Amino acid sequence: MKKAWCSGGAPEGTGPSTFDFLKNEATDLLDNKGSAFAKNRNEATDRGPEGPGRSLLETMTQRLQDRIALVAGGSRGIGLAIGQALAREGASVVLVARDRRTLQEAGRQTPRAMAVAADVARPAEVKRLFVAVNKRFGRLDLLVNSAGVFTYKPFERTTLDDWRRNLDANLTSLFLTTRAALPLLALSQGGHIVNILSISSREAFPKCSAYTASKFGALGFTRVLAEELRSRKIRVTAILPGSTDTRMANEFDFPVKREDLLQPEDVAEAVIAAVVQPARATVNEILITPSCGSV
Ligand SMILES: NC(=O)c1ccc[n+]([C@@H]2O[C@H](COP(=O)([O-])OP(=O)(O)OC[C@H]3O[C@@H](n4cnc5c(N)ncnc54)[C@H](OP(=O)(O)O)[C@@H]3O)[C@@H](O)[C@H]2O)c1
Repeated sequence: MKKAWCSGGAPEGTGPSTFDFLKNEATDLLDNKGSAFAKNRNEATDRGPEGPGRSLLETMTQRLQDRIALVAGGSRGIGLAIGQALAREGASVVLVARDRRTLQEAGRQTPRAMAVAADVARPAEVKRLFVAVNKRFGRLDLLVNSAGVFTYKPFERTTLDDWRRNLDANLTSLFLTTRAALPLLALSQGGHIVNILSISSREAFPKCSAYTASKFGALGFTRVLAEELRSRKIRVTAILPGSTDTRMANEFDFPVKREDLLQPEDVAEAVIAAVVQPARATVNEILITPSCGSV
């Protein structure tokens, strides 16, 4: 399905060279808009894991060197902050989302990033995504599921379409990406799945019925997965953030003091803390909330 790819489609069964894609797209922008993207283009394409752009100090302090990570929902908000934090730690990062323009910009802002446009609620697009990851890297070390949508409406105004959008993006996507990623995670020396869930995976808030149903389900799914994959040495972590200052928080129908909310980088730091643990230690769940409480 061509529309799954930023570059306008890869031949069936071959998968795109998405690093090349990023380079080509960036080159187009460079031609159109001057030299502003030159540095980022080089970071995204020329700096391999042992690339020339890394200082010795950077290399010595990076804890995820040579790791391959995929962040679903990596084009903005919490997912982008996670992708950038992983890249700072030395990982090569595959950023995934639907909107190509936002995704391209995210790719340019993230060193060693590969950007792939895909809807992770659609089986065919997920399949194609992981074919590309396999072709490019041959394995996956870390799957981060951060793609999600949020509907803030009283139950009686929640439509079936709202319900399905939340269930598809927040729950079915986990089923699809996990199923597709497992063969690649099994080839890692220490596969890890991190699901970005929510305080709404544990607590009920009014006007969030569809979202809460999806996030409660996602926590149940994550806990079962953790038990099933333990014997295969694949670790599973649930991150449960409270209100975070992203586009999602625009949905609230009451005034929000943005400075009271978590920042996406706070959630990203929690993810880093979980994934840098030694293989003998699993961080099962992290609940991280604004210090002022629920907003
Ligand atoms: N912000 C909060 O207060 C908060 C609190 C607790 C938990 N969370 C959770 O944190 C995660 C990230 O949310 P956020 O606050 O960062 O929201 P955001 O800024 O709206 O980002 C959502 C990301 O998911 C992508 N996405 C959505 N549906 C997708 C799909 N079907 N396929 C692929 N990508 C998809 C979006 O890109 P496209 O739209 O281009 O696809 C975007 O990259 C979500 O799971 C959310 O439930 C957020």
